[in-house]
Amino acid sequence: MTAADDTTGANAGAAAEAIAEVTAVAPAVGARKTGTGRAGAADPVYSIQHVSRRYGDLAALDDVSLDIGAGEWVSIVGPSGSGKSTLMNILGCMDSPTEGIVLLEGDRLDKMGEPELATVRRQRIGLVFQQFHLVQHLTAVENVMLAQYYHSIPDEKEALAALERVGMGDRATHLPRELSGGEQQRVCVARALINHPDVILADEPTGNLDETNERIVIDFFHQLHDAGTTLIVVTHDAEVAEQGQRQIILEHGRIAREVTDASATPTKGASGLSSGGTRPGAGDGGAEGAPGAGEAAAGSAPGDGARNAGVSGGPEEDR
Ligand SMILES: Nc1ncnc2c1ncn2[C@@H]1O[C@H](COP(=O)(O)OP(=O)(O)O)[C@@H](O)[C@H]1O
Ligand SMILES: [Mg+2]
Repeated sequence: MTAADDTTGANAGAAAEAIAEVTAVAPAVGARKTGTGRAGAADPVYSIQHVSRRYGDLAALDDVSLDIGAGEWVSIVGPSGSGKSTLMNILGCMDSPTEGIVLLEGDRLDKMGEPELATVRRQRIGLVFQQFHLVQHLTAVENVMLAQYYHSIPDEKEALAALERVGMGDRATHLPRELSGGEQQRVCVARALINHPDVILADEPTGNLDETNERIVIDFFHQLHDAGTTLIVVTHDAEVAEQGQRQIILEHGRIAREVTDASATPTKGASGLSSGGTRPGAGDGGAEGAPGAGEAAAGSAPGDGARNAGVSGGPEEDR
């Protein structure tokens, strides 16, 4: 992949192809969410109905129906290959189902082509992936500002503030290679959040993190949840899964069962990560090391590779 020849700035232009999973946009940079008023499971944010995603004879998703309410924190668990990333890619506008209906706040995602999906992705969804997808030649703060750039106007002060919120203020001018995995993921979280999306989709967001960094990321998710953000988190980590109010357990592309945890704490705090929690039963197949089909499926989207999934939402599309 080559550095883009965007005229608006070498850094931002060159980063266009790597920004794929970054896009997160809200009505206005600098706007804050309004308190906790939106929390609660009233209006469905997502409604998917009889959704299947087939690759030849293989049904990566097989007749899945699911509603996710505004302000809910939903964990998606299940063994490797059970369809978690496929589901996330469809929810995240990086892939389309072969059958079924996908509604985001009433809008038919399944009817949209790639350009429209890219717009939705940029404007309404924040994505965090196991693989960091940071632009290697940009500093931490520049990586965050890149997401602002795709939204509207880069604002270094706000980008710095976002990094400070994830404890990365003092690393703002470091390049990704100068950061640990945990630190890189915190930059990714700041980047996904910078434009205040209503929905955060995270596919194994703590998959590469040590316990300390996992806690930082999860605490931050709790803050977002408290502020009314809808969170959908794929994880094979039982402790992370238990943070959600609902656990959807996928097996063989189908919803095997659902666990609703009334005791899931909606409040923030490091203590939110309970240790020694019970596992979600048969749901967790454990060692799903590679982000695998998350990227594979994204690669199957129009375009020619995982990273193009979001690039198509980049500025080139606005020309
Ligand atoms: N682009 C693709 N082409 C063919 N098969 C795929 C593709 N993406 C995913 N699959 C298959 O679909 C199934 C579900 O994959 P995935 O959603 O990545 O599972 P999970 O994230 O739960 O590990 C797997 O059998 C996987 O091999
Ligand atoms: Mg996966």
